[in-house]
Amino acid sequence: MPVPIPDSVDYVLLDEATIEQRVQEMADEISSDYEGIRNEDFLLVGVLKGAFIFLADLSRRLTVPHRVDFIALSSYPDEEVEVSGAVRLIMDTRSDVAGRHVLIVEDITDTGYTLRYLYRLFEARDPASLRTAALLTKPDRREVEVPLHYVGFSIPDVWVVGYGLDFADRFRTLPYIAALKPRVYEG
Ligand code: XMP
Ligand code: MG
Repeated sequence: MPVPIPDSVDYVLLDEATIEQRVQEMADEISSDYEGIRNEDFLLVGVLKGAFIFLADLSRRLTVPHRVDFIALSSYPDEEVEVSGAVRLIMDTRSDVAGRHVLIVEDITDTGYTLRYLYRLFEARDPASLRTAALLTKPDRREVEVPLHYVGFSIPDVWVVGYGLDFADRFRTLPYIAALKPRVYEG
C-alpha cells in the first residue's frame, strides 16, 4: 500500500526507486574501492539520527565485509532550521578507530560544519584511512569546505524530510525524500 503524502509535504523531490538506485550505485562504488578489506578493518560510522535509514540500506548493499557503529551530535533545536555552526558530541562510537578504515555516513551536508567537525574528530584518532559519504548535499548552503568522497544527490536549498530526515523529529519514516511546505518550518 503506498504511503499517503502528508499535508505538510510540498512536493516529492526523490522517490523511492530513485533513492534505491542511487544507493545501489554508491554501494557498488564503495565496495569496489574497499575490495579485499577485512571485516575488522572497515568501520562505517552512521551519524544519528538522520543517517540511520541510509546507513541500513547502504550497509546491506555493500559486498565487502564491514562493521557498523554510530555517533550522535547535537542537532538544530526542534521547530528550528537555523544554522548555528556549533556542533556538540552527544554520543561517541564504541569502536576503536585507530588503524581502521573509517567511512563516516551522513544523511545530508548543508553548511558543512557537521562533517568538518566529524572529519577532524576522527582524523585525530589515527584511522588507517578516513572518508565521508553523504546521501544529500546542498551546495548553495556550504559555508566551510569538507572532504566529500561519496555523494548521492545535490539538492536545492529547501528543507527536506523522509528517508531518515526529519523536521522536529517528524516525517523520518517516509519512504521518499520530500520538500516541506515553507509554512511548516516558517511557523
Ligand atoms: P551542516 O552541514 O549544516 O548540517 O552542519 C547539519 C545538519 O543539519 C541537518 N540538515 C537537515 N536535516 N532536512 C533535514 O532533515 C534538511 O533539509 C537538512 N539540512 C540540514 C542534518 O542533520 C545535518 O547533519
Ligand atoms: Mg544529520
